[in-house]
Amino acid sequence: MVAPGPSDAQIEEIVNIAMRTPDHGKLAPWKVIAVALDQRALLAQAIKSAYLKEKPNAGRMELEGLEAMAHEAPTLLVMLSSPVASTKIPLWEQELSCGAFAMNILHATHAMGFVGGWITGWPAYNEDVRDLFGSTPEKIAGFLYIGTSNAELTERPRPELKKILSLWTPAAAE
Ligand SMILES: Cc1cc2nc3c(=O)[nH]c(=O)nc-3n(C[C@H](O)[C@H](O)[C@H](O)COP(=O)(O)O)c2cc1C
Repeated sequence: MVAPGPSDAQIEEIVNIAMRTPDHGKLAPWKVIAVALDQRALLAQAIKSAYLKEKPNAGRMELEGLEAMAHEAPTLLVMLSSPVASTKIPLWEQELSCGAFAMNILHATHAMGFVGGWITGWPAYNEDVRDLFGSTPEKIAGFLYIGTSNAELTERPRPELKKILSLWTPAAAE
């Protein structure tokens, strides 16, 4: 993945499109935080500090992996699940809505000619890293990396359609 990524105006457009997401109760239980290129070194430092706090004996390779993760792609969007507690809408539905929102961001990204990927990994599940972007009960839903592809995209194996799609056959009718 190489430059260019979407401009600031294009990122706004992508998020505006993605906000047309199923959202029971109009809670908007999701947020997006863009990490600018000139902030990536600070992010890398903070992620590595959090990692060392949890794993003081971390090796060089592990830390280099985290460093690389913070610097990847021209555009980095941190997706935050931001559920509303004071509502009868179940948390599960709010988290599903966040996943749908993230996927809509990827769809809008691809429709505009960019490529994007959704990654989690260790930083997505660490509270100190989460605190860089939000607070309890918020969770990092993923890191969306966006840019331009410098290689032909390949398809990976997908599940067999008939294992996924079926026609309901009620037991009573059998
Ligand atoms: C919540 C979530 C977390 C993911 N985390 C990772 C990850 O940490 N590393 C990874 O290689 N793929 C991860 N994936 C899978 C990729 O997003 C993606 O499906 C995969 O790279 C293949 O891309 P494609 O489905 O567009 O072909 C994750 C997907 C989801 C939905």
